Amino acid sequence: MEEITLKSGIRMPVIGLGTWKLTGSRCTDAVNKAVRMGYSHIDTADAYGNHEDIGKAISSMDRRKLFITSKLWRDSLRHDDAIASCDRFLKELKTSHIDMLLIHWPNKDVPIEETLSAMRVLQEAGKIRGIGVSNFTVRHLKEALETGIQISVNQVEFHPYLNQESLLAFCKENGIAVTAYSPLARGRILGDDIVKGLAEKHGKTPAQVSLRWLVQKGIICIPKASSEEHMMENLRVFGWELDRNDMKALDSLDRGERLINPGFSEF
Ligand SMILES: NC(=O)c1ccc[n+]([C@@H]2O[C@H](COP(=O)([O-])OP(=O)(O)OC[C@H]3O[C@@H](n4cnc5c(N)ncnc54)[C@H](OP(=O)(O)O)[C@@H]3O)[C@@H](O)[C@H]2O)c1
Repeated sequence: MEEITLKSGIRMPVIGLGTWKLTGSRCTDAVNKAVRMGYSHIDTADAYGNHEDIGKAISSMDRRKLFITSKLWRDSLRHDDAIASCDRFLKELKTSHIDMLLIHWPNKDVPIEETLSAMRVLQEAGKIRGIGVSNFTVRHLKEALETGIQISVNQVEFHPYLNQESLLAFCKENGIAVTAYSPLARGRILGDDIVKGLAEKHGKTPAQVSLRWLVQKGIICIPKASSEEHMMENLRVFGWELDRNDMKALDSLDRGERLINPGFSEF
């Protein structure tokens, strides 16, 4: 599995398994299967309600070989709430630490400095390795950077129908890695004629073309897959390349289609 070295020196696997809507034994089984076939990066969140299901799978694994991302929900961003939530996550996940803890969504009602300082306390205590955010715009990132606390990752929706070039450029300039969520546009990209044409040209699948486009932009991807076939397919995005024209054709598919936009979002 290829990895990206973050500014902090932490190495983050480029492909991870998304687990939103995976719960119970389906989730435990999916994580077990994924790790057996070569995944090492698992993406979860308090809001997904599956920490314990993931904990069941990873508690018997070599923890040093795994990269676990989780996220603080919007109601846990006050200093003491963030600390207590992380302590609970560690118990639920049956782990000593979380590799990357993210603020799931920005919340204008809580000063960013308050949450980030709590995350620093968690980092200094060895409970989390990296500090990151999710669904942050350039405006939110500028505010966060003013605190002087290192932001390693911004996890955002990114796929050919939502090509967030300027956000990506800002993150690159500021040493923040981008993780793409919904990298397959929740399945919508798979029927696209251009994507299907490129898949045929390269002898790959539409899912692999979408993921490869992201990987070539230096983006970490966390496709969610529950079937073994999909999981395996999504891992096979290395050792081949889209050429410049392929990349341009995929870039041109952008239509600003945001699939995840809840009422509380601050886009
Ligand atoms: N930070 C945030 O606010 C946020 C928001 C949304 C998502 N996320 C994270 O990002 C992850 C991925 O996003 P997502 O679940 O929204 O969407 P996604 O990964 O773009 O798409 C998932 C869908 O694609 C299917 N699929 C996966 N691999 C496939 C393949 N190779 N061929 C055909 N179909 C395939 C899956 O089917 P099967 O399950 O049947 O395999 C599932 O229906 C989430 O699970 C979550 O961890 C984060």
